[in-house]
Amino acid sequence: MDHDLLSVEQILDGLGNECLGRRVLWYRRVDSTNALARALAVAGEPEGTVISAEEQTAGRGRSGRTWLASVGTSLLFSVILRPSLEAKRVQNLTVIAALALRDALFSSTALRAEIKWPNDLLLSGRKVAGILTEMRSVGDRVDFAILGIGLNVNQQVGAFAPALNATSLAIELGYPVDRAPLLQTILRCLELRYRLLGSGQSPITEWAEALVTLGQRMQIECGDRTYEGCAEAVDETGALLVRLDDGQLLRAPAGDVHTLVP
Ligand code: BTN
Repeated sequence: MDHDLLSVEQILDGLGNECLGRRVLWYRRVDSTNALARALAVAGEPEGTVISAEEQTAGRGRSGRTWLASVGTSLLFSVILRPSLEAKRVQNLTVIAALALRDALFSSTALRAEIKWPNDLLLSGRKVAGILTEMRSVGDRVDFAILGIGLNVNQQVGAFAPALNATSLAIELGYPVDRAPLLQTILRCLELRYRLLGSGQSPITEWAEALVTLGQRMQIECGDRTYEGCAEAVDETGALLVRLDDGQLLRAPAGDVHTLVP
């Protein structure tokens, strides 16, 4: 199936943001929009630049995994940010991205996505989007951060290996979605939340309320160890607090969680 390709003009047309999307770069094929954004940021690219691609040959996922998406089916993009933020709070950027994605999906499609700690958006219990935030720090401050988002939009039934437990907007809705207005809505929602974060407003309470993960009994892979327990809360940096079966409280800054049936 042929897919319409995005263009810089479509992405910018009527966007209306002050910061995110000040400059938009679009590529037919790159290794990874996050890698390209990082190289640009190192070379001094100001914040707000969006790098979008139709295809990635080495798309990066969390924990060294790859992110696969066939040409023209997804939104694959990275945003260069230069927030005034302590490095230990960089997860806040993933948090605002998850909330912005959830808001944008609801206003564009009326679908209610769930947020799974630490960085997944789910529809019908399947992954529809992932967020990969990478950063460079100077001392204890963020120098720049790259916010990378992969959103499955127009993949058809059968496009994902069952083991991925993934879905797309088109699969959930039963019809394809125009990607340019959707990307614009995401960038507007993200700009709003980025501004609130910059003004000192923490997104953690709202995120915690939106997380499907809290209250669940789970297995958590953290570093090279696996634990079992109940996810009780998140702390102000976004780390997950898990009450282990032996009563200890595990603080997991990152990891993979799998729900266990109680
Ligand atoms: C995850 O869930 O593991 C995070 C996936 C993030 C994928 C996006 S696609 C656009 C951007 N460029 C990359 O190389 N990765 C992110």
